[in-house]
Amino acid sequence: MRVSRIALGTWAIGGWMWGGTDEDSAIQTIITALEEGINLIDTAPVYGFGRAEEIVGRALRMHHRREEVFVSTKAGLAWEGGRVFRNASRGQIKKDLEDSLRRLGTDYIDIYFVHWPDPLVPAEETAEAMQDLFHEGKIRAVGVSNYTAAEMAAFEKSSPLHLAQPPYNLFERGIEEEVMEHCRDRNIALMTYGALCRGLLSGGMTASREFSGDDIRTYDPKFQGDRFRQYLSAADKLAELARERYSRGLLAMAVRWVLDQGADIAIWGARRPEQIAPIREAVGWIIGDYGKRQIRKILDETLHDPVGPDFMAPPVRNILNR
Ligand SMILES: NC(=O)c1ccc[n+]([C@@H]2O[C@H](COP(=O)([O-])OP(=O)(O)OC[C@H]3O[C@@H](n4cnc5c(N)ncnc54)[C@H](OP(=O)(O)O)[C@@H]3O)[C@@H](O)[C@H]2O)c1
Repeated sequence: MRVSRIALGTWAIGGWMWGGTDEDSAIQTIITALEEGINLIDTAPVYGFGRAEEIVGRALRMHHRREEVFVSTKAGLAWEGGRVFRNASRGQIKKDLEDSLRRLGTDYIDIYFVHWPDPLVPAEETAEAMQDLFHEGKIRAVGVSNYTAAEMAAFEKSSPLHLAQPPYNLFERGIEEEVMEHCRDRNIALMTYGALCRGLLSGGMTASREFSGDDIRTYDPKFQGDRFRQYLSAADKLAELARERYSRGLLAMAVRWVLDQGADIAIWGARRPEQIAPIREAVGWIIGDYGKRQIRKILDETLHDPVGPDFMAPPVRNILNR
């Protein structure tokens, strides 16, 4: 598979946890991304409880050339009455796959991820279910998302593992501790998510931005009180560096940084066609060692109270059912 190093993420396109969706705008965003050279679309059943996959399916039909587009989607999160919980059992994975094929209107998935590790299911059961789908030709590559290095190692005992999808951006660097090294050592492609840290690194975030409805940023700890001011201040300083040293916007530098740190693919979430425009600024250059040191200095000096993306982790089943 020859995929673009930037993938379009469709979580916000599903609407759920992003304050709703505008379907026409979402489809136009996907078409614009494809026209701009992005050929990999990342989605999941849980994004809008099926809605994002249906929208991707509609866009694929409008595009007419399914074989030129690579689609990644996921298994292992179930929902009931609007509440989401992990279930990476064999039965759930097979069901998720058939539902995704139907919604996407396709008969194969290019990259299939286990969305979250499920501590209630043995690693070998999850891995074997994924391996079966791979051998049946229903999926073309096996991936895991939000796995630690140890969880990946356990999975690899029962199945080949081609890709990992952890969070990674200038403000969320947890994978530098172990996951990156494990992927490098095991030749697992790194397709990281959240390149813009939910918009904080878009260059357009301000203290006056209001979030409504079920938007995740109404309770994301990075977007609250003094912490929000710290992250905005870091974003301002990074934007100044991007402008003065690279004559580019913050968004381009944020995506570029993810790729130059060693991610093979950076997922960029967008839901309006005009949000795709800065992609041209993100390609065709690199951030050298000096730039990386300057970035590090800004982060160290500005973020006194950093917080990770752990608040996004969905519960395991027994916690929900208690
Ligand atoms: N595997 C997992 O567990 C997992 C978890 C999270 C995400 N993901 C994947 O990764 C993708 C990206 O992550 P993410 O959705 O968290 O988002 P992100 O890339 O960190 O941020 C996306 C948000 O940034 C804003 N944005 C994008 N382009 C912009 C532009 N040109 N100007 C101003 N603002 C812009 C938009 O927010 P507004 O429209 O509100 O302004 C957009 O929804 C997801 O869509 C999903 O495919 C996977």
